[in-house]
Order: sequence, then C-alpha cells, then structure tokens
Amino acid sequence: MATIFSPLRYPGGKSAIAPYLAALLRANNYSGRVFAEPFAGGAGAAVKLLYAAEAEHLALNDVDQAICDLWLAILGETEEFLKLLRDTPVTVEEWSKQRAIWEKPEHHELAARGFATFFLNRTNRSGILRGRPIGGLDQSGAYPITARYNKANLEKRILRLAKWKSRISISCLDALDFIEALAALPRPPFLFLDPPYVGQGRHLYMNAFGHEQHESLATWLRAHSRIPWVLTYDDHPIIHELYSWAHITQIPIRYSAQTKRKATELLILPPWVTVPTEEARPLCYS
Ligand SMILES: C[S@@+](CC[C@H](N)C(=O)[O-])C[C@H]1O[C@@H](n2cnc3c(N)ncnc32)[C@H](O)[C@@H]1O
Repeated sequence: MATIFSPLRYPGGKSAIAPYLAALLRANNYSGRVFAEPFAGGAGAAVKLLYAAEAEHLALNDVDQAICDLWLAILGETEEFLKLLRDTPVTVEEWSKQRAIWEKPEHHELAARGFATFFLNRTNRSGILRGRPIGGLDQSGAYPITARYNKANLEKRILRLAKWKSRISISCLDALDFIEALAALPRPPFLFLDPPYVGQGRHLYMNAFGHEQHESLATWLRAHSRIPWVLTYDDHPIIHELYSWAHITQIPIRYSAQTKRKATELLILPPWVTVPTEEARPLCYS
C-alpha cells in the first residue's frame, strides 16, 4: 500500500529531486561516487549532483541514438556544436531542416545530428522530439518558437557541461543491458531510474517502454538486492502491483507535458536502501 507524504522527506516535483537524491546518496554512503541513469534523457538531476560534487562520475545511458548523439556532440565536439548554436536561426523553416536531419541521421555527421536533437528539444512543445514547435507551424500560438531558446544562456550551459566531460560517460544501450553490465562491477553505482511513464510513454518518447519491459525491470530490480536504486514513475495501478514488495510513496506533482492538471507520481525505493532522515537541503554548485 502506498504512503502519501511519508518520512521520505521528498517534497515532490522534478526540480526538488536532485537535493533529495543527494540526501539519499549521503544516507547510503554513496556520496562522491559513480551515479548512473539508465534512462538518462537530459539527465537534469544527475548533472546537478555532479556540479555539486555529490557524485564523482556520471554513467548516463539512453537507448535513443538521437539523445546519445546529443551528449556525444556536446561533450566530444563542443566547438562545432557551439558554432551551430550561434549560427543557426531559430525559425519554423529551420525547424523543418533540423527535423529532417533528426529523421534521417545517417546522412549527417555527429555534431549536426546532436545539434538537431538539441534544436528540436528546445523548440518543440514540452521538449518532445517527435512533437510540433512551440507556437505551432503557423506560429499562431501564445508563445513563439524562440520561447525556450536563449542562445547566450544555452551557450553557457553547454560550456559548463563540456568542462566536466572527463567525469561523464555515455552509452546507448537498452536499460536492462546497461544495468546488467553495471551489476557485474565490484561495487555497482547508485541507480536513478526515470523510465517512460506507463500511461504516456508511447506518445512522449521514440522508444516506448511496453508492459513486458516494465515487468522485466521490476523483476530484475527485485532480484538484485546488492544494487541501490531509486525509481520514479507515473501513479499507475500496474506499477503498484509490480512494486508491491518495495516502498512506494505518492508525491503530488503538476503535469506539464500537455495539460496542467494536478496528479501524483510515485517515488519507489527497495527495502535495502536507507531512507534519508535529514531534510533534503539545497545543493551548492562549484
Ligand atoms: C522520462 S525520460 C528520462 C528523463 C530524464 N530523467 C531527464 O532528466 O531528462 C525517459 C527516457 O528513457 C529513454 N528510454 C526509453 N526506453 C528505453 C530503454 N529501453 N532503455 C533505455 N532508455 C530508454 C527515452 O529515450 C527517454 O529519454
């Protein structure tokens, strides 16, 4: 049975997850070590942990080759990537060109492929790669295509990320293969799993995670009690059933993908992970 507002001391909301993860790492003696995200996407929380020295190294994985290309281009071809950022106009016409690169990546070099993913993420509604541009193709919406594209700020963020490149490794595997490989290490890293939602994943991501995969993940996690992890999910009956053996907490959130309706999401911890007793405190960035 799920708890609402349990003693987990996680106030809820994606922006609060990084301080909570830091508290979780401290409580389990994993501070300053490798931190892994099998479903990394933009790895917003993991990057904050690295900047705040709460994690020593990030092992980021995503099965979507376009997302891996984005990471590899930013970290490995920073100058080319920044040139594309500076020189590319942010218009609907350009959006169509970037969309074409993203659809046929095999005809392009790494920097162009990674940049196309970045461009679509910043100009599409809710950052959904397969989605439509903010303001619509006719730009009749309330916000323009440039609404989330402040070149100067984005450049700063990319430069900052690139400075940490020796502490970030990228892989493009199926999440289960990735965690299987990590499990073979003498001391596996702490895992933060943020898989596609059961209810919405099919519409949001290129690589929807089907029922069988949700089930295999739960079976794998249950069988590997040496591995510390935390999992976030949508509040769906299937997930309550799959994780009835773990600690499930319902967290109130505001959905932002399409609607602004209120909802709850789940934070799940296995019985072998120590729940933080300290308040999650704001992170200090270097
Ligand atoms: C909810 S998002 C993660 C968001 C991420 N926490 C962030 O801060 O941006 C889920 C991610 O899982 C990836 N994904 C889907 N199926 C996968 C699979 N089988 N193995 C690994 N990654 C997968 C998607 O490409 C997507 O980037």
